[in-house]
Amino acid sequence: MDEEINKLIEAMKDFEVKMVQVEGIPLPESTLEIWDQIYNFQAREDDILIATYPKAGTTWVQEIVDLMLLEGDVEKSMRAPCFVKVPFIDLNAKPMKSGLDLANDMESPRLLKTHLPIQLLPPSFLDKKVKVVYVARNAKDCMVSYFYFQMMNKGLPDPGTWNEYFSTFLAGDVPWGSWFDHVIGWWKAKDSHQILYMFYEDLIEDPKREHRKLLKFLGKDLSDEVLEKIHHHTSFQAMKENPMANYSVLPAVVFDQSVSPFMRKGKVGDWKNHFLVAQNIVFEEEYKKRMEGSGLSFRTQL
Ligand code: A3P
Repeated sequence: MDEEINKLIEAMKDFEVKMVQVEGIPLPESTLEIWDQIYNFQAREDDILIATYPKAGTTWVQEIVDLMLLEGDVEKSMRAPCFVKVPFIDLNAKPMKSGLDLANDMESPRLLKTHLPIQLLPPSFLDKKVKVVYVARNAKDCMVSYFYFQMMNKGLPDPGTWNEYFSTFLAGDVPWGSWFDHVIGWWKAKDSHQILYMFYEDLIEDPKREHRKLLKFLGKDLSDEVLEKIHHHTSFQAMKENPMANYSVLPAVVFDQSVSPFMRKGKVGDWKNHFLVAQNIVFEEEYKKRMEGSGLSFRTQL
C-alpha cells in the first residue's frame, strides 16, 4: 500500500483533471479509457452492489453491510481501507489498481460500489440478479456535500464558487451527471430488480430500523448484541476516527482534508447554512418540474 501511495503522489504531480461524456454522463477520462471493460464487467450471483449518487452516504452503508456480512467482526472490517475492500468499479485512479482489477482479484462474496446511473450499469449485474442496495439523499444536502468534496478531491474538477456550483449541479454538469436522473432512474428500476432503495435521512432518523431492513434484504439474521456493535462502529463519530473509513490513508495531494474532511458533518439540513433565499426559490421550481410524477419524495429536514 505504501508503495502504491508513493506512486500516487508522484503521478499527481502531472495530473490534469479531465471529464468526458459517456452517453451524455460526465465521467473521469480515466474511466472512459477502460469503459468497455467496465461495461462488460462480469458480476457474480452472490455479489452485493452498493449504488449511489455521489455523497449520498455510500461509505456509511458500505461499512454497515460489510460488518453485517462479517457478523459484526470489527477487526476484520478494518482489514483494509474502504476503497480497497469495496471496489469502486467505475473508478480507474491510476496508478492505483482500478476498481475492476480489485474486484476481479477478490474472492466471493464481494461487496462492490458504483456511482453509475442505471442506464450505464454493466448489464451483468441485473442479468445475474445481483442484490443492489441503492442509497438516495436529498438533493440539497447532496449538493452541499458534493461542493465540499469537489473542493478537497483533487481528482475531480474544482467546483468554483458556491454560486457557480449551485447552477452547475442543477444542470447536472457534475461528475456522474444529474442527481434527478440518477435517483429517478434507480427508483424506476427497483420494481423489476432486487433493489433495496434506502434514504440517508431514514438512516439518520433511525439507524437501527434501517439496519433491520438491510438485514432482511441480505437474508441474514444477527443478534441484538451484534446489531448494537454494528450501530456503534458505524456512527458518524466512530467512522470519523476510523482510518479505514475516513480516507485518511490517501495523501493530501489526492484528498486534501485540510480543505474539508471526508467525514464532514453527517447531518440532514446543512443546506440551510448554504442556500440563499433566492437559490432556494430557483431550486424548488426546478425540483417540482423534474420530480413531478416520479412518485419519489425526499425529506430535507427531520
Ligand atoms: P457530509 O459531507 O454532508 O458530511 P459518500 O460516502 O457517498 O461520499 O457520502 C459522504 C457523506 O456521508 C458525507 O456527508 C459524510 O459525512 C456522510 N457520512 C459518512 N458516514 C456517515 C455516518 N456514519 N453517519 C452520518 N453521515 C455519514
